[in-house]
Amino acid sequence: MCGIIGYVGPRAAKDVVVEGLRRMEYRGYDSSGIAVVDEGSLHVRKKAGKISNLDAELALAPLPTTHIGIGHTRWATHGGPTDSNAHPHVSSNGRVALVHNGIIENFASLRAEAEAQGAVFASETDTESAAQLLGLELANGVDLFDAIRSVARRLEGAFTLVAIAADQPDRVVAARRNSPLVVGVGDGEMFLASDVAAFIEFTSSAVELGQDQAVEITRDGYRVTDFDGLPAEVKPYEVTWDLSAAEKQGYDWFMVKEIHEQPQAVADTLLGRHTVDGQLTLDEVRISPETLRRIDKIIIVACGTAFYSGLVAKYAIEHWTRIPCEVEIASEFRYRDPIIDPMTLVVTISQSGETADTLMAIRHAREQGAKIIAICNTNGATIPRESDAVIYTHAGPEIGVASTKGYTTQIVACYLLGLYLAQVRGMKFGDEIAEVMEELASMPAKMQTMLDNQQQVKDLARDLIDAQSVLFLGRHVGYPVALEGALKLKEIAYLHAEGFAAGELKHGPIALVEEGVPVFVVVPPRGRDQLHDKVISNIQEVRARGARTIVLVEEGDDEVLPYSDVTIRHPKCSTLLQPLLAVVPLQIFAAEVATLKGYDVDQPRNLAKSVTVE
Ligand code: G6P
Repeated sequence: MCGIIGYVGPRAAKDVVVEGLRRMEYRGYDSSGIAVVDEGSLHVRKKAGKISNLDAELALAPLPTTHIGIGHTRWATHGGPTDSNAHPHVSSNGRVALVHNGIIENFASLRAEAEAQGAVFASETDTESAAQLLGLELANGVDLFDAIRSVARRLEGAFTLVAIAADQPDRVVAARRNSPLVVGVGDGEMFLASDVAAFIEFTSSAVELGQDQAVEITRDGYRVTDFDGLPAEVKPYEVTWDLSAAEKQGYDWFMVKEIHEQPQAVADTLLGRHTVDGQLTLDEVRISPETLRRIDKIIIVACGTAFYSGLVAKYAIEHWTRIPCEVEIASEFRYRDPIIDPMTLVVTISQSGETADTLMAIRHAREQGAKIIAICNTNGATIPRESDAVIYTHAGPEIGVASTKGYTTQIVACYLLGLYLAQVRGMKFGDEIAEVMEELASMPAKMQTMLDNQQQVKDLARDLIDAQSVLFLGRHVGYPVALEGALKLKEIAYLHAEGFAAGELKHGPIALVEEGVPVFVVVPPRGRDQLHDKVISNIQEVRARGARTIVLVEEGDDEVLPYSDVTIRHPKCSTLLQPLLAVVPLQIFAAEVATLKGYDVDQPRNLAKSVTVE
């Protein structure tokens, strides 16, 4: 995530840039910054924290009124949310200022190369290597537009770069791969931004840049090329959204937007984890491999949706590492006197990184000598700061209170951890890890298929709008998916819903089944045939008692058809990865029911996104 803006035109650049950043603050709010060009030099202001901190800085140290500028609001990935890691980054020769959205995977080698040529780094970011290389190109006499393309060709990963040069007061250049960039076409002024929300008040004419394209804007126009400088085709369009819709990119709700962002979020979470020599790497690990080899128990602690992602993770972690793994609700953990010692690894999962119950749980575990690994979506939050190692889920800000992309990226991060432990402990060979990584890499496209076929689920929501209660059943990893499906309905549609382990049905919950009760069932993929067949029997049991069965099942599995009233298909995948696909229709279903009932999907009653009290 991150929000980027560039401007050239008659208005005061500082005002356009700061206002644009404010409109994109939902994309990240760890820090923000602005750079302008005045009389042959670059002027930069940047501050950790929300844009109000940048406002205060600008009041203390005002910028000159110029007509060209760039800005950035950050969702930290490499390097914590500090002033020095905030963008823009200026090359140490003072020639360019650059902002970046994305993750540059080969930053370490680029940094070494820039340092060898005399660049002096001032931050811990991956971004600065691009800024330094660009500065070096300009020092060698290369044209700014050529230089940004040359740098872009050398980067691996995901990026949008936007830059200005000290000696060029009339143009802004940019390049993009795997991260968004839109040109705003005004009358005598041009804009670049991560999304149209940044400039919608000035112009509704826009041009979206394609993959591996670069652009140069001046007051009078824009020029788009590929990374080799050949002219590229682009499609201008008119934005018909108003400002608030623009922030949600046309979706009615942030939650729905976030559901649709899951393929990208999962892809980003996987980015840069597998080195060329086939080794897995995590973000920050301050635990030695020797210590990890001695671990004899794992306890996962989390709340809400994060707890359910932990329940999924248990199946994979135990299977791959053979280390016993417990999963515990954070608020229960501390008060039951859990058995923890220095051989215990506590894995904590938290989207926000600030949940008080989770924080207290890890503090308690630390006091007993346990090592802590955090899985978190918020760089520099308290929970990762107080942990010994961190895996960040690069999902970007999650605004909707009900977690969606948080959940799926947490599962991915847990799986990375499981594979990492298996690697360190010698439980899995490189080729075995590569096989799982390959399947994980195929998941974003499969999740996209689920999103493309959502009409069936929306129709179902309309049909079931008057249901008084909805049940969800699953086995193995399908069980936590059932719990999550029920939680989503409770949270945003205020509908009574329960998730059960399908095998537990006959020990009580089946008494709830009566004529017409909707029952969602997650059917395990073939390959775990015993599990699969047991679930088919469970479906028959509820159907015989009048339930309306809605069955989530992989393509090609027709065995269930005689017993399912509605069949929702997902692409083929292994059992362990099924939650990433099966949860998508459940999220869409809940959001649609809540929308049809007229509820505020993003801010459901009585709930908060980040619960910072115990
Ligand atoms: C709150 C939110 C949930 C979330 C839980 C844990 O209850 O409403 O959606 O799952 O907190 O939040 P965390 O930020 O720790 O993942």
